[in-house]
Amino acid sequence: MEIKEKTAVVTGASSGLGAALAHALVAKGATVYGLARNLDKLNALQKQLGKTFIPVKMDITNQKAVAVWVKKTFSDAKIPNILINNAGAGYFNKIDELPLQHWYDMINTNLNGAFYISSNIVPFMKKNHVSCHIINIGSILGKTTRPDSAAYSATKYGIQGFSEALSKELRAYNIKVTCVNPGSIETRFFEQSGIEPHSNMLQPIDIAALIIHVLETPCNMLIDEITLRPLQPKMKWEEQREPSSPVCYANSSEVRKEFRDEVPIKVKFVPTPIKQKDKKH
Ligand SMILES: NC(=O)c1ccc[n+]([C@@H]2O[C@H](COP(=O)([O-])OP(=O)(O)OC[C@H]3O[C@@H](n4cnc5c(N)ncnc54)[C@H](OP(=O)(O)O)[C@@H]3O)[C@@H](O)[C@H]2O)c1
Repeated sequence: MEIKEKTAVVTGASSGLGAALAHALVAKGATVYGLARNLDKLNALQKQLGKTFIPVKMDITNQKAVAVWVKKTFSDAKIPNILINNAGAGYFNKIDELPLQHWYDMINTNLNGAFYISSNIVPFMKKNHVSCHIINIGSILGKTTRPDSAAYSATKYGIQGFSEALSKELRAYNIKVTCVNPGSIETRFFEQSGIEPHSNMLQPIDIAALIIHVLETPCNMLIDEITLRPLQPKMKWEEQREPSSPVCYANSSEVRKEFRDEVPIKVKFVPTPIKQKDKKH
């Protein structure tokens, strides 16, 4: 897909991977609707990205609000081409110590929210003449497990199955579905999760660059799953000799801190040009 002038919806755009995805998509010329509950953060992001980033205050666990917003925002003449189901919650705890509310937060955000938004957007995508793409952000913990991850893993294994079935269902409609399963990413996810970060986590902008690459693959190529992990999780960041990604050169500690703490500021997103054999779509 040629991303320029396409319309994207990114859930969980107020921080971390979602904010990095918004940066990357806007840099590629897309109009991005960024959904999250924290409007201040979304507005701050719009100040950096400009008018092609549209902040939408939305709790994706509110089925009615999601349905109303999709209906009033899109039409047969204005179809969303890209949906990134990124918003997520993670709490790690022993099964007999996990607060019931944390279980509901994870199920409602990671599974129900993705279902609400996808089920409302797919009817518009089906009417599109060019290919559309849904990216679901899963997790390495949707492929394997760790102690205390029973609840989170249940949602991420769930989104994996959701993606696989949806991919088979929507292939015939020219809609791609890809589940991206990252290992640990340096975002504020770890602040509330109850698990410890490590010193060499994946960077949100590197994953955003990878997702841009997946979106830009030729229109007849369907990648239905990607799993990625940090190399050398115990290595100290300072020991790295070169930027971790060949397509993105923004791995300064300043940028890392910005994505982790707040809405990223002054991020240099410098993707190298990607050769596209098929520019027709
Ligand atoms: N960090 C990791 O190590 C890691 C690893 C694998 C997978 N993941 C997955 O990656 C995705 C992004 O997480 P992240 O690491 O970037 O964490 P993050 O910085 O905490 O971002 C989570 C985003 O989800 C939004 N969100 C949460 N609940 C929401 C709701 N009910 N409605 C709307 N938005 C909601 C948050 O915004 P508001 O609070 O403003 O609503 C925030 O923008 C998640 O699906 C997570 O499970 C993360």
